[in-house]
Amino acid sequence: MCRGLLEGSILKRAQDKGLAELEAVDLRQWAVDKHRTTDDTPYGGGPGMVMKIEPIYRALQELRTPDTKVVLMTPQGRPFQQRIAEEYREVSHIVMICGHYEGVDQRVADHLVDDEISIGDYVLTNGALAALVVTDAIVRLIPGVLGDADSAVQDSFSTGVLDHPHFTRPEVFNGWSVPDVLMSGNHAAIEKWRRQRALDLTRERRPDLLG
Ligand code: ADE
Repeated sequence: MCRGLLEGSILKRAQDKGLAELEAVDLRQWAVDKHRTTDDTPYGGGPGMVMKIEPIYRALQELRTPDTKVVLMTPQGRPFQQRIAEEYREVSHIVMICGHYEGVDQRVADHLVDDEISIGDYVLTNGALAALVVTDAIVRLIPGVLGDADSAVQDSFSTGVLDHPHFTRPEVFNGWSVPDVLMSGNHAAIEKWRRQRALDLTRERRPDLLG
């Protein structure tokens, strides 16, 4: 699943340009038994399976460098935000541990990881989906990855508000027209309109961002 996405689109281009190296590895190769088990039943009982610590420990022994940040993807983690993507853009090597089943042996979080990240208040079947979301958000911030030099600088969230609406040709479609100001050529007026729309939208949909 990861490989499909890592080998497509902008993530692929970032790798081809030598701006990022992305690799999905299967934890089973570090399993300790002949059945290559990476999960087991929970102590204390209850439904589901729990990811074992040994394969994760052994994987990290092999993958970790002095510069590695080890991140556990979990709904219990700190909520992922643009500012965390910006923080991780500066990190030279990141290992993301993706749980599935009911969870991961707590000793992993307690002793082996530097950070725990959640991508939202919902539970996925596979943390790899969360890792891909986080990877994409980080990689697009690496200088040179996006075509237009400032398309990341003007992102919503780095500006602190939602993005303003965008329009392109045709000027009228189905009777729905583009706002006049965008056709005016008056750059100051356009800038003002965009700032105002961004603020209105943020006030209406995400007042929490305005603090
Ligand atoms: N694994 C399962 N659900 C998750 C979530 N919301 N965020 C990060 N990892 C997860």
